Amino acid sequence: MKISTKLAVASAALALIAGSSYAASASDNWDNSCASCHGADGKAQTKTGKKLKIKDYTDATVQAGLKDDEMTKAITEGIKGDNGKEKMKSFKDELSADEIKDLIGFIRKFKA
Ligand code: HEC
Repeated sequence: MKISTKLAVASAALALIAGSSYAASASDNWDNSCASCHGADGKAQTKTGKKLKIKDYTDATVQAGLKDDEMTKAITEGIKGDNGKEKMKSFKDELSADEIKDLIGFIRKFKA
């Protein structure tokens, strides 16, 4: 195989991986993008979670207080504190609407 052909094959493979049709599973997305603050177990017992007083998603009362559309908005647009400082970034450039929907289903399963 000529080098130029190899390169073309390699870039086609890369384009496939990076393509928008690629959707990661909710648990992969949670581990990669959310667990650093919210905790792998959803309890937010992380350094950032404690500092920012993030809610414990295993708590049924917390879950009952969360509405799906508010959760979608938080993940899509991010959250700013009263001082205007960003508490959680917007994920709309990284996650598709379907991935965000799956993540909400994933968060609901933390409830004990
Ligand atoms: C930099 C830390 C950080 C990361 C990373 C992060 N969050 Fe958050 N998240 C927060 C903070 C802080 C809040 C607001 C907590 C509050 O003020 O009640 C929040 C709030 C939320 C809310 C709104 C409900 C609530 O608890 O108030 C949802 C839903 C949520 N995050 C989901 C996610 C998902 C899904 C991801 C990954 C795609 C993610 N978060 C990544 C810090 C983070």
